[in-house]
Amino acid sequence: MKVLNAPFVQSFAKLCDDGWQLRFHERNGGNLSYRLTDADVELARHEFNTDRPWTEIGTDVPTLAGTYFMVTGTGQYFANVLAKTMETCGIIEIDETGKRYRIVWGFTTGGRPTSELPTHLMNHAVKMAATNGAHRVIYHCHPVNVIALSFILPISDAIFTKELWESMTECPVVFPAGVGVLPWMVCGGRDIGVATSEKMKKYDVVIWAHHGIFCSGSTFDETFGLAHTVEKSAMGQDDD
Ligand code: 13P
Ligand code: ZN
Repeated sequence: MKVLNAPFVQSFAKLCDDGWQLRFHERNGGNLSYRLTDADVELARHEFNTDRPWTEIGTDVPTLAGTYFMVTGTGQYFANVLAKTMETCGIIEIDETGKRYRIVWGFTTGGRPTSELPTHLMNHAVKMAATNGAHRVIYHCHPVNVIALSFILPISDAIFTKELWESMTECPVVFPAGVGVLPWMVCGGRDIGVATSEKMKKYDVVIWAHHGIFCSGSTFDETFGLAHTVEKSAMGQDDD
């Protein structure tokens, strides 16, 4: 089977397109990563190219040593992922120290992983441990109502959780632990990754004030559904 037709690649690209359709991804906004199963790796291995160099991740993720992730590329537009999956996305392998990665598939026109790779991988490490390996998807998007809410509400986990839970009946069921909120921070580096992954120990959703959200889940549907639910609940808010 061509890797492009593998179910995990198809589901990955579909999530990107769903996010684009819902206007969560202006320009290159947002990024997605998926930790491959052993079966995914065996299915894809025949197209892996291990000639490309190892690159520093910019943080340490020792528990992810030897694992593989499909990731969106930095500067790539979610609008293009479905039609140009191999150009806009790739599969990376983490080395045996958990400090470096190399591209083994995709990024055919010279791209490289998202600038938020440190945050994605630190979140994966936390959620893999917290869920006994169940969580495999980390999704970052820029939904307008969640961003707007972060200009109105105090930056507090408890206040955001209460407001989002009260806005839509299903919310306490969909995110029973609530949501974490971080104040504005410089994105694309280790510090915001450390802060986000600290919150991910408790929550499956972390809001970056004035920027967007990070969600974690077991499947593409569950993770996208979580982001969609939080955004829809934020839309129901007013400022009284
Ligand atoms: P990338 O294009 O590097 O994925 O960055 C987009 C983004 O949303 C940064 O937070
Ligand atoms: Zn972003």
